[in-house]
Amino acid sequence: MKKVGVAILGLGVVGGGTYKILAEHRDFYKKNHNLDIVVESVLERNIARAEALGVEASKIAGGMAEICSNPDVDIIIEVMGGVEPAKTFVLAALNAGKSVVTSNKELFCKYSFELEKAAKKNNCGLFYEASCVGGVPIIRALTDNLQGNKITSMIGIINGTTNYILTKMSCGGAAYSDVLKEAQKLGYAEADPTSDVEGYDAAYKLSILSSMAFHTKIPYTDIYREGITSVSSSDIFYGKQLGYALKLLAIGKNGANGIEARVHPAFIRAEHPLASVNDSFNAVYLTGDCVGEVMLYGRGAGAAPTASAIVGDVIYCATHSNYVYSAFNNTEKADPSVKFVTNFESAYYLRIAAKDKAGVLSKVTSVLSKNGISMERVVQEKDGVEGAVPLVIITHETHENSVKKAVADINATDIAKVEAVIRVVS
Ligand code: HSE
Repeated sequence: MKKVGVAILGLGVVGGGTYKILAEHRDFYKKNHNLDIVVESVLERNIARAEALGVEASKIAGGMAEICSNPDVDIIIEVMGGVEPAKTFVLAALNAGKSVVTSNKELFCKYSFELEKAAKKNNCGLFYEASCVGGVPIIRALTDNLQGNKITSMIGIINGTTNYILTKMSCGGAAYSDVLKEAQKLGYAEADPTSDVEGYDAAYKLSILSSMAFHTKIPYTDIYREGITSVSSSDIFYGKQLGYALKLLAIGKNGANGIEARVHPAFIRAEHPLASVNDSFNAVYLTGDCVGEVMLYGRGAGAAPTASAIVGDVIYCATHSNYVYSAFNNTEKADPSVKFVTNFESAYYLRIAAKDKAGVLSKVTSVLSKNGISMERVVQEKDGVEGAVPLVIITHETHENSVKKAVADINATDIAKVEAVIRVVS
């Protein structure tokens, strides 16, 4: 039986969940994997939290140096989140010859180059399945199983908090702030929920996943990002009537014109498999040239699903010595030959507050047509306020810049104002 000593940095929601699973499943791993995985050390300032989990006092480390010099520790699990001190600790672990398993998407997204360099130099493993999409095994699918494909597109619901919020807002009309509090209570949201609701968390994950899928570094700073804080329940309602579900989508495409990478709220047809991914569930819908379409679905947030990915990495690390690294050309910056498409093509949902008088609709449609935008559907709703009626338009596929120009032109008139612009994924 191989003994594997691990240390856990941080006993928050995910660290605590990992500790519990390792303790509860110890015999199961012994029997089925021939591995005795023992938590040799934890780094946690909140002693009461460690004690509540049943950690022996002798296993609570006084600092990172103690863990790095502990010969019984083989693998260090970093579940602290954020860049510092996690980055310093992970580099210290790798330089001490310890393999690392991390759930830290922000750290891996921003510093994968530096971390991987240290891991290779010290011949250590660096595993990050838990950094993206919680318990859904997307990283290993990209590093291993789907390697034979040229992946052309990836559309994902990769943030559990926002998916939970949008699901509750669309089902029961619950208020945004109440649902956010519930998501925090359930352990889905980051310590600072801005990262979730403003789309940073999804952008970090898309940076990692699209770099892997397209084999080239896609820095998160090259990802167009919009969160869900300005989504209104009336748009969710109108969209639903037109047969759409609203989701925070992460989209990566590798086409003839270059690479597109964006995170924003989007309407998706109710029949699309991603439309029924609800609550804290996540999914990634990929298209590869050999495999065709593949969707990986499961829980993307929460203690046990994320711990599932962490423990999977611990077992993989303990049973492999020929480490596989990021499976993309992990450069420090984006390769200068890569073109990022910003004037991308999409259909759009526009909600316009229009004056309720003759000629307004034709004025609006003529502005759209002057900008080369053709309409698929137009609905005039009845419940307007102060002499204005909501005009809901779904356009055919057009360019982002044409829509921006048309919105500015409509807003320059005194008869209509564009109140919402939401991309529609066909
Ligand atoms: N805050 C993240 C989410 C946790 O809501 O998806 C998992 O990365």
